[in-house]
Amino acid sequence: MATSPASHHSEAVAARAESRWAWFVGAVIGLLLVMIAFTSLHWVMMPTKRIETINPSTLHLQGEFVEGNLGSAVEPDGSVTVRVLGQQYSFTPQCIVVPAGTPVRFRVTSADVIHGFLITETNVNVMLEPGYISTFDTTFKQPGDHVMPCHEYCSVGHAGMWARVKVVDRDTFFKQAQSARRQSCVPH
Ligand code: CUA
Repeated sequence: MATSPASHHSEAVAARAESRWAWFVGAVIGLLLVMIAFTSLHWVMMPTKRIETINPSTLHLQGEFVEGNLGSAVEPDGSVTVRVLGQQYSFTPQCIVVPAGTPVRFRVTSADVIHGFLITETNVNVMLEPGYISTFDTTFKQPGDHVMPCHEYCSVGHAGMWARVKVVDRDTFFKQAQSARRQSCVPH
């Protein structure tokens, strides 16, 4: 079967389009590989500047994670710091109260194994690692109730490890804060 000049022409167009796409896809893959190589090397050469360590075996005896110091506290600049301890299989405190529309910094650590720290419907999501203090800064937009499940398998009781987070309005929170240095709520 003889091919006409017209079909010759369209074959050439198709071949050119195919090779253009092949180059394009190849370039995208190449770019991704370069990004992976760059970020890996960058992280290896520039370890994170701020690593806070803590001795997990003396958490309950001394330092900022002693029981009386857990929960929400107002800082001199009007922001709020929440200290939380995770252990198999619960968080302390079991119910956390924070104000809406205020910068909140979480400082969390684990007394035993790796746990996950996540507050539903927010961007709060970090790992709790024994020996390290994890921090997370956020601002809760509006009052409401959230749950805080452990999201890292931490042995048999993992599924039952969770706490509550109560976001209350700013005024209510700061009024309560005048009478208590650390705040937490009663889970119900
Ligand atoms: Cu703690 Cu899973």
